[in-house]
Amino acid sequence: MIVLGLESSCDDTAAAIVRHTPGENGVVLSSVVVGQTDLHAAFGGVVPEIAARAHAEKLDLCVEEALKKAALTLGDVDAIAVTAGPGLIGGVLSGVMCAKGLSAATGKPLYGVNHLAGHALTPRLTDHVAYPFLMLLVSGGHCQFLLVHGPDRFQRLGGTIDDAPGEAFDKVARLISLPQPGGPAIEQAALTGDAKRFALPRPLLDRPDCDMSFSGLKTAVLRARDKVIAEKGGLTVQDQADLAAGFQAAVVDVLAEKTRRAMKAYMDHDPAEPALCVAGGVAANLAIRAGLETVSDEYGALFVAPPLALCTDNAAMIAFAAAEQSSLRGPDDLTLSARPRWPLDTNQPSMLGSGKKGAKA
Ligand code: KG4
Ligand code: ZN
Repeated sequence: MIVLGLESSCDDTAAAIVRHTPGENGVVLSSVVVGQTDLHAAFGGVVPEIAARAHAEKLDLCVEEALKKAALTLGDVDAIAVTAGPGLIGGVLSGVMCAKGLSAATGKPLYGVNHLAGHALTPRLTDHVAYPFLMLLVSGGHCQFLLVHGPDRFQRLGGTIDDAPGEAFDKVARLISLPQPGGPAIEQAALTGDAKRFALPRPLLDRPDCDMSFSGLKTAVLRARDKVIAEKGGLTVQDQADLAAGFQAAVVDVLAEKTRRAMKAYMDHDPAEPALCVAGGVAANLAIRAGLETVSDEYGALFVAPPLALCTDNAAMIAFAAAEQSSLRGPDDLTLSARPRWPLDTNQPSMLGSGKKGAKA
């Protein structure tokens, strides 16, 4: 099955073509992602209306480019998949309308896909990981543990109750005058920092569940920074590095310990081939990867972190998820609607609304 996927739920416009063969890894025939960082730079965050307009302008160009790169025509495609939520509603609408147009014009079946399902099923695309597997989704807008039982069966074990970790990296970088995006800048600065100089909290570790909080940690960094500035009149490069290292170490500790608890709950399901998977932009962080790998080793589980281009927002994951789900459900029709909120696990929906970078989850 060859699927054309579209993604436009936040600030990346993407189109991709994926070949799905049951029982095998997916094959990404092409994947085009056009970012919008420049358009939003002056505003300090994503402006939904600007994002929606840019998606509407760029989607058809991305589709053309994806077809060209894959050396295919629309006639060669078996289905059209699109992110139908959760996300910034204007952007999601742009994608859904474009996909409906393509489907109506070509007669190809249309599949509306949950963006989070796209992320969560990526380890099937890259490594054909066996169900059930444990997924930690950590990005600028998402943070949750998902037990993935099947292509459309997700159990949410916990997640952040306030900021997503990527959001916290970005805000802390701003606090200590490091550039955006904050994650890579903090990781780099932390290399020469002393993680023990500042005593920063490990929020919610006293609670036995898998929920996390990163907002208080960010405030603790702010206080530590202000104390240094009050004493010395400013931050030296070493102060920046020590604050970055302390913050990153706290995030690693929280993610590792909460992952340990999620692993315990997962292992109770007796998975035949246990796997801990991670996705999202924050999964690029080597200290975080190392912390998670230690936990998966403790349980003898496989550790899977897809390549970064498939961890961050892309349309290949949407195309693949549609193909994976097509064995369980039929296509959508032209009444498919765009959903700003769409919890994967309706029994344990996220407590959060829309964040700086799309739907928090
Ligand atoms: O998944 P992603 O590309 O986009 C959305 O969240 O939609 O994630 C971006 C986030 C940003 O907050 C960025 O600071 C963070 O991922 N990030 C990192 C690293 N690289 C990117 N965080 C920590 N360490 C990194 N190396
Ligand atoms: Zn995403």
